[in-house]
Amino acid sequence: MEKKITAAITGIGAWVPDYILDNEELSRMVDTTDEWIMTRIGVSERHILKGEGMGSSYMGERAVRNLLEKTGTDPMEIDLVICSTVTPDMFFPATANLISGKVGMNNAFSYDLIAACSGFLFALSTASQFIETGKYKKVIVVGADKMSSITDYTDRSTCPIFGDGAGAVLLEPNYDGYGLLDFDLHTDGSGAPHLHMKGGGSAYPPTHETVDKKWHYIYQEGQVVFKAAVSNMADTALEVMRRNGLSVDDIAYLVPHQANMRIIDATGKRMGLPEEKCMVNIQRYGNTTTATLPLCIWEYEKHLKKGDNLILAVFGGGFTWGAGWLKWAYDGDKFAK
Ligand code: UT7
Repeated sequence: MEKKITAAITGIGAWVPDYILDNEELSRMVDTTDEWIMTRIGVSERHILKGEGMGSSYMGERAVRNLLEKTGTDPMEIDLVICSTVTPDMFFPATANLISGKVGMNNAFSYDLIAACSGFLFALSTASQFIETGKYKKVIVVGADKMSSITDYTDRSTCPIFGDGAGAVLLEPNYDGYGLLDFDLHTDGSGAPHLHMKGGGSAYPPTHETVDKKWHYIYQEGQVVFKAAVSNMADTALEVMRRNGLSVDDIAYLVPHQANMRIIDATGKRMGLPEEKCMVNIQRYGNTTTATLPLCIWEYEKHLKKGDNLILAVFGGGFTWGAGWLKWAYDGDKFAK
């Protein structure tokens, strides 16, 4: 009998800009303090991409180059590139097209996918289908967001949260049961009023008025989003564990979207997970939207062992949310220098 094909991550790359915006600098820009930010959000610093004409593709390109170099993959071998982003370089062409062009992945077709902070898991689930059907052999998922381009640095309730960054994974067929084995994804459009960017799209194309009204920045009702994030991330993660017969003891790590340290803690607690099983790096990057999951896995890669069960959990604008079960396919220290 032919073995079932699953989509395994066979390498991970990432890139963040050099410039670091710390809480001390932020406290000079808006009425806030390091203490407030650390206790209410848990972010100490974020990386910011500076420079004219540099968008998400600049970071995505570097994350993909890091991935290809690490895994010894020729860009021409790549069949498909999916980029999740809410901060595309421009409406069109797609940021995935731009990244593919810059890196020379000329045999790939590529497109963007939007699911806000849930984008990476939505893209990973979508990409895995192209592998599982046997249609493609090498697919890249990139998550890249330049959140600084849509953050209002006069709004103290949002500007401490966000940062810029990109991560990328290579997906390949696996015949031994490793890879993305299940996912549970949701959307609820009634959440849109609570978290969105109103201007610049087809509903409210850019005008002087939309700019004056600051509609080109993130609008967020923090407490509504906070509550929905905790309950939905935990519940969907527990659902994925339940239907696959996984207990807390079977889980090596929870990989939660890095939106707020208190959301991460509350999600872990609701799941009954010990703190050390929760991947966290929000302190140094902030919320990089679609890049939070790959940036976490990239940093923890060397600790991962073949066969580790990871539960990915996300929540974002839309609302969008979901969880996935990923059986890690290689010993992470194989890439250690
Ligand atoms: O990734 C997409 C999903 N996004 C999220 O998951 C974000 C979810 N929400 C949150 O993380 C939190 O709700 C925030 C970090 C946005 C806000 O934290 P909060 O604990 O919900 O604060 P709050 O909005 O209830 O504000 C409490 C107080 C207010 O002052 P008053 O009205 O009590 O006098 C705010 O004006 O804190 C004030 N405040 C600040 N004070 C100092 C808000 N921002 C700041 C600040 N520095 N930066």
